[in-house]
Amino acid sequence: MATANTFGPQGWTPDRIGSLQGKTYVITGANAGAGFEAARVFLSKGAKVVMMNRNADKSATAIESLKHEFGGDADVTFVRMDLAVLDSVREAAAELLGTVDHIDALICNAAIAQVAKQEITVDGFESQLGVNHFGHFLLCGLLFDRIEASHGRIVVVGSNAYKMGLKKIQFEDLNFDKNYTAWNAYAQSKLAQIIFAYELQRRVQATGKNVQVRVCHPGASRTNLLNDTASLPMKLLWKVISPFIAQSAQKGSWPEVMCATEEGLKPQALYGPTKRAETVGPVGECPLEPHALDQQTATQLWTLSEQKTCFSWSP
Ligand SMILES: NC(=O)c1ccc[n+]([C@@H]2O[C@H](COP(=O)([O-])OP(=O)(O)OC[C@H]3O[C@@H](n4cnc5c(N)ncnc54)[C@H](OP(=O)(O)O)[C@@H]3O)[C@@H](O)[C@H]2O)c1
Repeated sequence: MATANTFGPQGWTPDRIGSLQGKTYVITGANAGAGFEAARVFLSKGAKVVMMNRNADKSATAIESLKHEFGGDADVTFVRMDLAVLDSVREAAAELLGTVDHIDALICNAAIAQVAKQEITVDGFESQLGVNHFGHFLLCGLLFDRIEASHGRIVVVGSNAYKMGLKKIQFEDLNFDKNYTAWNAYAQSKLAQIIFAYELQRRVQATGKNVQVRVCHPGASRTNLLNDTASLPMKLLWKVISPFIAQSAQKGSWPEVMCATEEGLKPQALYGPTKRAETVGPVGECPLEPHALDQQTATQLWTLSEQKTCFSWSP
């Protein structure tokens, strides 16, 4: 059942944010969609933004557009990173650590979705699990100490898809070699991301470290998410229905901006739009289904993620 919105009937909006001068926000996949809109909010409040994007040309265009809007002095840069390639994540993390002395929040926003046919990354992962979960798992681990030293946050952008599909991590066939469907594989990847986030929260709390981990989703937002990877029927369906059922990319960015800036948010909570089955509307706390908090799955997924990324990590 939905809880009353702590932020009032309009929900959370960026009007609640004061000056962000001196703050640094790192956003994955910020050349478009919700990540780009989040960058706009941070820059409008005076923060520095570092985008971690896979496409240099799109990044240059995004930066040009942001500097056009916020002025040539707007502090926005990009580091090239392809989350589908673990070596690229390692190189990008090293580059970022060499150029940014503190990180107020890392926002794990990038994703691919509804990949029509099974695709396997160079590291051997089903593509959505590889990009959305394993890539971000490694990035969070590599940047964790700098975020901790900054008393910063990690924001994981999930999806209502975590409660669709199989509602489990299919450990026995992670890549869906036997029974691939775009929905099940996307849903698994977004479930993996939020199970990881809540497990990271628990581990951070246990060690008393100074990192907040927050989890959100953008509801249904009009972005490019299905443009590259989804099947033709899915793309057509989304084109027809999205003007009626989805909100703007700008509103879709608010939950991640809130999780990066608002004080007093709860752990073990999911934040996002709260109306029409949590697809649109005022931003606040959304119901969270218990399978996202399953401890045994979380432990198994953490160990597996360490093995698959060759990165052992004790927050
Ligand atoms: N839109 C929705 O209705 C919806 C619903 C539920 C959840 N979400 C979540 O919201 C978040 C933002 O998505 P969006 O809707 O804003 O989609 P979007 O417009 O497609 O933006 C996704 C971003 O991720 C980047 N990306 C994709 N693959 C990457 C890779 N291998 N390495 C690095 N970056 C990569 C994209 O870069 P390119 O431009 O190079 O492709 C793009 O910048 C995602 O986590 C998504 O799962 C969205």
